Amino acid sequence: AASGSLTGRHALVTAGPTHEPIDPVRYLANRSSGRQGYEIAAALAALGARVTLVSGPVDLPPPPGVTLHRVETARQMLAACRDALPCDIAICAAAVADWHVAQEATSKIKKTAGAPPPVLTLVPNPDILADLSAPGPTRPALVVGFAAETDTVGQHAAAKRQRKGCDWIVANDVRPETGIMGGQENEIILITDTGAEPWPRMDKHAVATRLAGRIAAFFTPDMPS
Ligand code: C5P
Repeated sequence: AASGSLTGRHALVTAGPTHEPIDPVRYLANRSSGRQGYEIAAALAALGARVTLVSGPVDLPPPPGVTLHRVETARQMLAACRDALPCDIAICAAAVADWHVAQEATSKIKKTAGAPPPVLTLVPNPDILADLSAPGPTRPALVVGFAAETDTVGQHAAAKRQRKGCDWIVANDVRPETGIMGGQENEIILITDTGAEPWPRMDKHAVATRLAGRIAAFFTPDMPS
């Protein structure tokens, strides 16, 4: 690994969507590309951190110098994250599905002429960010969550920071017209214990580099940045 200001630190990053199976051929998913999480994993590794990336299904090459664990469902993502502990830094960039299908069918659900369509019962998925943020002996020193909002971004994100128990929130506006979700660029507000900091719109690589720099400064406040 590269040597730098995060040498000796272990960072856990979640990225991508999760796929929640309906039957062996169908699933529920979302439009997350995984790009921002992969960029963050690479940026932390570039500063010398040992990085564990727990990723849902994405179409991206593994970032160099990062240990990649591929998962499909939210439940698998939580298990892989717990397995990766302890860590100093946890960044939850994954767009985890909020629900999974209560009873996954073991064979393909047939459409039968004249029969009513199937009704899916959904049950909540575990909240990985809240789980990692919970007080305890393996609570990382810095836990960062994301907030994908479509209105009053800053306000909702600050409330989310409290609710989840994480330290920072990276809030972004995912209204379709912003082109952010699934796109190359991001425009974020960084919410910490001291306030809300809007960053200019930049590509996801630049957001990751700047965020990694802020994380390094969190651990080494006197370091010039
Ligand atoms: O609750 P909401 O999805 O709005 O919160 C977003 C943040 O929580 C993101 O950091 C996301 O990775 C994390 N999250 C999670 N597990 C869930 C739901 C969200 O880790 N089940």
